[in-house]
Order: sequence, then C-alpha cells, then structure tokens
Amino acid sequence: MNNQREQALAYLRAHRDAFRRALGEILSIPSVSTDPAHAEDIRRAAAWVADNLRALGMQRVDVFPTERHPVVYAEWLGAPGAPTVLIYGHYDVQPAEPLELWESDPFQPAERGENLYARGASDMKGQVVAALKAVEALMQTGGLPVNVKWLIEGEEEIGSPSLGKFMTEHADLLACDFALNPDSGLLGKDWPTITYGLRGLAYFELRVHGPAHDLHSGLYGGVVHNPAIALAELIAGMHDDQGRVALPGFYDRVRPLSDEERAEMARLPVADQHYLEQTGAPALYGEAGYTANERVGARPTLDVNGLLSGFTGPGSKTVIPAWAMAKISCRLVPDQRPEEVHQQLLRYLEENAPADIRWEVTSMHGAAASISDRHSPAIRAMERALETVWGTRPFFRREGGSIPVVGQMQTILGVESVICGFGLPDDNVHAPNEKQHLPTWYRGIEALTHFLLNLKS
Ligand code: BES
Ligand code: ZN
Repeated sequence: MNNQREQALAYLRAHRDAFRRALGEILSIPSVSTDPAHAEDIRRAAAWVADNLRALGMQRVDVFPTERHPVVYAEWLGAPGAPTVLIYGHYDVQPAEPLELWESDPFQPAERGENLYARGASDMKGQVVAALKAVEALMQTGGLPVNVKWLIEGEEEIGSPSLGKFMTEHADLLACDFALNPDSGLLGKDWPTITYGLRGLAYFELRVHGPAHDLHSGLYGGVVHNPAIALAELIAGMHDDQGRVALPGFYDRVRPLSDEERAEMARLPVADQHYLEQTGAPALYGEAGYTANERVGARPTLDVNGLLSGFTGPGSKTVIPAWAMAKISCRLVPDQRPEEVHQQLLRYLEENAPADIRWEVTSMHGAAASISDRHSPAIRAMERALETVWGTRPFFRREGGSIPVVGQMQTILGVESVICGFGLPDDNVHAPNEKQHLPTWYRGIEALTHFLLNLKS
C-alpha cells in the first residue's frame, strides 16, 4: 500500500503540467448558470466533466438532464467491502461581470506569478479538477482503495434548485458512506483547514411601488412618498443600533455559541486584522458582542445585495421614481429555516411599511445552514492527509458562505460531508480577477490522494 502511495505521489509530480492544462480547458468554457445565453456552454462543461470521468476509467458515467442544468453522475465500485465516497462538485460559475475590471479575459485562463486567473479557477472548477486528478493518480497506480461515486452539478451558483429532487429520485444510486465536498478553501496558504459548518441562505427581491409613473419632482415633490426613500427607510429599520437584525423572531431559533466553540474560534490564525486587509474597508462593522470570526461563522446576517430606483445615468434628472427595488439576502445559521425567515420579512413589512406605498416580496432561493460531524473516520482521514502534506495540524472552521448540497445530503441521503477545498481568502471568488494559487492547488491534489488512501488504512 505504501508503495502505491509513493507511486501515486510520483505520478502527481510528473503530471503537473498536464493537470494545469486540463484545468485550463474547463476554465475556457463560460458555464455561467444564471444566464440562459450560456445554456450551450453549460452543456459543454457537463460533457467535459463526463468525458474526463470516462477517461479516468469510471465504470459508469451518465449525464442526467434536469429542469435547468444537467447533473453528471459517475461511479467506480471496484473495491467491495471498502467505503463508498460520493465526490460532489459543481461545474457552473458565477457571471464574470464587470468585465472591465479583469486584467485578462475571465474565460482565457492566464498564469501570472503563482496564480492562474479565470472565472471558476477557485470556485470551483479548480477543486473539481483536483479531485479528478487525485483519483487519476490512484487509478494509474494500481486502482482506487475505496469505491467512488461522483455528483457534479451545474446549478450550485443559483442555489441548486434541481438537486433536491434529483437526490430524492436517485437516492439509491447515490447511496454512500459519506461525501467529499471540496467547494471551500483554506484560512491561508500555510493553514490547512477543514470546514465543519456552513451558513444557510434566504434570498429575496423587495419592490416598493408609489405613483403610477415617474413624476416631475418639482410639480409633485412634497405630495407623495418617494418609493426610493420609503425603501431606504424600510431597509434602515431592518437592523437595530446594535447591528442585530430586526425582523420579528429572527433570532428565535439561532443556536447559541458555546463557550468551548468561542474559545476554539479565538484560536484560529485569522482575526479582525485579516478581515480589514481582505475587505479593504476603513473599519469593521457588525453585530455587537461578537468577534469577526464569530460573526462570519456562527451568527446570522441580513444584507442588501443590490438597489435600483429612479435616474442613475450620467448628469441629473429631476424625478420621483415610480418604484424602487432591493435584493436582500440573509445568511442563516443552525437552526434557522429559510421559509420562516421569508415569513419574518413579510411580517416586518406588514408591521412597518407605510400605507402610502405598495410592496411585494419575491423569494428567490433558500438553503439551510449545516454543521458536520467532526469526529468521523472520514474527517480523521482528511486531518491526517492535510498534516502529511502541510506538516501542520489542520484548523477547523465554520464558513460564512453557503453550499446548499451539504444540508440536502444530510436530510435526503443521511450522509455527512468532509468539506475541504484548496481556495484561498484572496482568490476573488464571485469577483473580478478570480484566481487559484497553483502551489496550493498541487498540494491539494496530493492531500486528496492521501485522503483516499487513508480511508482504507
Ligand atoms: N464555494 C462557494 C461557497 C464557499 C465560498 C465556501 C468560500 C467556502 C469558501 C459556493 O460556490 C457559493 O458561492 N455558494 C453560494 C450559494 C448560493 C448561491 C446559494 C453562496 O454562498 O453565495
Ligand atoms: Zn460560488
């Protein structure tokens, strides 16, 4: 077995350039899931994944259509009696706009320094290819020590709307002992990290309507409630002066942080200064009484993701807009429920919206938060793998982002996920100039190879 470990590591080192080229190929496909104009690119990305799974020697590879974007499923079940790992990934990416802020084309991967720049490099085509290459190294050096199944979807960046139904309908096909989910990152390049908690999400569009049409602000200013101002007032009331969310009942189910967890979070190698540097904001801001790590990992939030109303072009125009719109989302923690947060927002508006405007809320998508078991044999296997490659004990952290599938796998398939990917905090995920740090990526591929081998021994 040790022999295979050495052979597999030698294989990885000999094939770095080929791995980097494979990553370049999939990064060149603009598989933006939210934009119908990219439907063909989505299809090509799914086909790329399926072809590469076939080339690995998977025994079965299927591309399942869904209402939106296809799911790629594959399996290799040649290790009877050994555990079965379900490897999750997504081949879709966020839109690349604003394009003018990219230093190179988002879909023509470019290497600068130690980084590879492209949309999806870190989130998460880089992580999908890392998993493919770890499995390739083992397939090429005697075979896998465990059974693997793959579930690679194309809708993660739009909230995985088809995946719940797909998993329910294919629960037998997806049966496994646990999942590997590399859709995450490290606290820093020298700090290997296992994510054991993720926040959930509840996303809304709020529209406020006033006059039947735009009005001259001189002829009518002073006689109607300006919808942009009414919306701003409603938004302002969504937090109290302690930075707490003011929707009625918002904190009712929030699981309090134990002293033990707070002590652990305080030991993480990143703290307020890290957030100041990463954000470039003049000062930090948030719920009183909690550190930045606690606020990101274990406290819920409400944010405005976008605002639109009235005249926003160059120059000036004296107008009272007919309507105003805000995209509002809440990051949730266990045991909040997205549907309940929707009801809480409706109640807040019923209680606080003035009678001189009309409002409507559309619920866009939701996902529950998740906390994973940290003491399973699979987590131990990942801890040892990271320690082998980085030479240091991994950190455990609760992530502020959301990966809806982790909670869905708990409820639908009854399985826990090992969440460990190889992005970095400054990878610009969802932003211009997204990148993957290549030395960290190569380390990640090695760590995933050790992880799979560790599952057996
Ligand atoms: N990979 C991210 C989530 C993430 C980012 C985890 C950084 C760990 C570190 C994922 O692709 C993502 O962006 N999810 C969305 C989910 C949403 C669209 C339902 C998110 O968090 O906004
Ligand atoms: Zn993402």
